[in-house]
Amino acid sequence: MEYKRPEQVLLMRRAGLVVAEALAAVRAAVRPGVTTGDLDDVAAQVIRDAGAVPSFLGYHGYPRTLCTSVGAEVVHGIPGDRVLVAGDVLSVDCGAVVDGWHGDAAFSVLVGDPEHHDPADVALVETTRASMWEGIAALARGLAQGQRLGVVGDAVEGCAEEAAAAGGAPLAVVDGYVGHGIGTAMHQPPEVLNHRSRSRGPKLRPGLCVAVEPMLSRGTADTDVLEDGWTVVTTDGSRAAHWEHTVALGERGAWVLTAEDGGAAELGARGVQVAPLAPLA
Ligand code: MF3
Ligand code: CO
Repeated sequence: MEYKRPEQVLLMRRAGLVVAEALAAVRAAVRPGVTTGDLDDVAAQVIRDAGAVPSFLGYHGYPRTLCTSVGAEVVHGIPGDRVLVAGDVLSVDCGAVVDGWHGDAAFSVLVGDPEHHDPADVALVETTRASMWEGIAALARGLAQGQRLGVVGDAVEGCAEEAAAAGGAPLAVVDGYVGHGIGTAMHQPPEVLNHRSRSRGPKLRPGLCVAVEPMLSRGTADTDVLEDGWTVVTTDGSRAAHWEHTVALGERGAWVLTAEDGGAAELGARGVQVAPLAPLA
């Protein structure tokens, strides 16, 4: 595993902020009538203007800058001519490299005006987002307590269960896809599971940088890959959501590299202090 020194984490922060900026621009461009290819163009422009390089483009032959996954598509949807309509569940995943260091993040959103949104889709998107932040908060607490990486999966699965117990429809943690270590490559060991497991993973220690990326489905946890060789869909056609952030662990705690505020608001709301290595830019 690649444990990063503080100055290396600062380089990753630069990549993280480029990804954050690209995703913010994409989010602002999402509306009915726009194509997923249009969104890809927006992200590509932001990354290029920042002097960074898109990390997905050319990765095992992947053809675009973003992954855009709509409806029953979970992850790795390829941007193209698909026109977004009000009420679609859209997930957007983006990666960028600056001076050899990677950032990777994703969000899900409902397209168009709230009157067109299915409340169960709103719950899907919000619970997936919450499960990501609970996973990140668990990382920060687990670091202080000498725990292992498995705290992320405990938190994500627990969050999905709690949402159902609180009266929501059941949500499944998608099987077979995980978060990952990240640094001089987009995908590094260790795997970051989104479900509870007896294998607890490596001990949390300063220098560990991981992408936390829960994927939840309104139906089955099972997926297929479409003919294009990339697009991952739920086997029962149920809608899915995906959220992701790149997180660094340091001597003083966790820092969310792909969040503009470093995670301060969401982690603060969960009683966890963000611990950047340097003053926030
Ligand atoms: N961002 C994805 C992940 O979180 C990987 C995208 S696959 C690619 O691991 F081919 F599009 F790059
Ligand atoms: Co990732």
